[in-house]
Amino acid sequence: MSELHKKTKEITELVFKSSRKAREETNAEPEPHLTQPITWPVECVVGPGLEGAIACESKIGYVNGLKGWLIYRGYDIFDLCAYSTYEEVSYLLLYGYLPTAVQLKAFKKNLIQCRNVPNTLRLLMSFSIEEMNPMAVLRLGTNLMRQEFTYIDRDGLVPKRGKVIGTDEDSIPMETVPRGEEHAIYEFKDSDPFKSKELSKFDLEPAIGYKSCYRLISGVATIAAAIVRIRQQKFPIDSDPELSHAANLIYMMTGKQPTPEEERIMDIALILHADHGINASTFAAMVVASTLSDMYFSVGSGIAALNGPLHGGANEQVLHMLREIGEVSNVKSWYKKSRKKKQKIMGFGHRVYKAYDPRARILRPLAKHLAKRNKESGRLFQVAKALEKEVISTLGVKKRIFPNVDFYSGIVYDSLGIPPEIFTPIFAVSRVSGWTSRIMEYLEKNRIFRPRAIYIGQFNKKYVSLEERTNKTR
Ligand code: SDX
Repeated sequence: MSELHKKTKEITELVFKSSRKAREETNAEPEPHLTQPITWPVECVVGPGLEGAIACESKIGYVNGLKGWLIYRGYDIFDLCAYSTYEEVSYLLLYGYLPTAVQLKAFKKNLIQCRNVPNTLRLLMSFSIEEMNPMAVLRLGTNLMRQEFTYIDRDGLVPKRGKVIGTDEDSIPMETVPRGEEHAIYEFKDSDPFKSKELSKFDLEPAIGYKSCYRLISGVATIAAAIVRIRQQKFPIDSDPELSHAANLIYMMTGKQPTPEEERIMDIALILHADHGINASTFAAMVVASTLSDMYFSVGSGIAALNGPLHGGANEQVLHMLREIGEVSNVKSWYKKSRKKKQKIMGFGHRVYKAYDPRARILRPLAKHLAKRNKESGRLFQVAKALEKEVISTLGVKKRIFPNVDFYSGIVYDSLGIPPEIFTPIFAVSRVSGWTSRIMEYLEKNRIFRPRAIYIGQFNKKYVSLEERTNKTR
């Protein structure tokens, strides 16, 4: 058990308590089908918005919508929150197994090395970031990282074709990596990709591959933290290599090292947001990657999709909504009014979950735990609790509408001193590991995504010249 877990046993207990409650309430729900390999082409019933469509097979994560269960690479999300860390979960998502101590140490070292994005931050600061949507800045940051770290778009720096070495060369065991060019390219496999010098004099890298995943998992966190600082007219803070991913994120945002409890709760929030099937932002990232664009552009597309209030942008809206309601005594009247206007209640409902989102089951007690620390968060939590009761009592049974991941995450982040406009960037910081893992998996058997639309337009229209055209000839 890590030092952090030893110091935060109370948090682990909260996770176990939620896990027991979840199992009691959902064990009886039927197990949906479709969790075994399929033979293509596959028949499926598809609704608008690709509801029910099967885009690919995957071993990365499974969302059981009926039971409200979430699994990463076979591990239950409750167990991962109780025992694991965001770094270990990112390794699990990327490689498919929990790392050994040696593997985890090397992985963490790589992630720490990739936290520093000096040129990207230097260029970012030349933009009026305080006036920009933080998700737009995050997405701009991924493009600047693409320029800072990769040789893509720089013909002069793309690796030269290796000298073709005849087979009668002395017997140095060379690995040939025929890439379909007219010549085989001979190269020594460098044990640590960070040291490989062949790429170019600037140590530039390919824009796709595991290294680009590490760069983005760490670099996006650094950029998100820098956005907080610059919006407060302060300079970004350099990462502290001694701190974990979660602790360093809080430190680079606030300038203060978090308490073990704050670090652990942030770490659990990052684990919870890391992956979630082929949701809108993951699908957007995969579509871009399927064209053989690159990892940086793909993650940038994921960020763009996550920005929407129907998706990752809901967590910020929830906090504004709870503040607008203000007091528990206002909940009923507020809810009645919003239902009358047929408004969607932010933080509720889900395309897949027709049960309580397991992530909300964990974030709720964490929000309650943190809310004890200050009056404002305590008040927000009470309003949230009362609103949850209203929504479930009216829409829960009838429409299977329950709290989703965004309903309590805002209270957690607010209690950690994170400004509301940074809630969705934090969601993106975590989801980079899910986006990059699914892209790496999909590229193993890549096929460009190309769904179709049912044409419901007209046929056999006759062309009318401009002179004869009137509103009637449409
Ligand atoms: C995330 O896909 C993922 O996995 C996403 C995510 C992830 O980890 O990547 O889980 C993260 O995006 C969570 C969702 C965050 N968004 C919100 O909290 C915004 C509010 N929620 C809704 O907009 C909605 O529930 C969606 C977008 C999440 C899901 O929408 P669907 O599946 O398209 O459902 P729908 O809009 O077709 O609604 C079905 C019915 C409708 O009623 P009727 O027209 O049939 O009478 O349910 C109602 C809707 O009006 N409904 C709601 C509601 N959500 C659905 N009514 C009130 N409040 C809501 N929140």
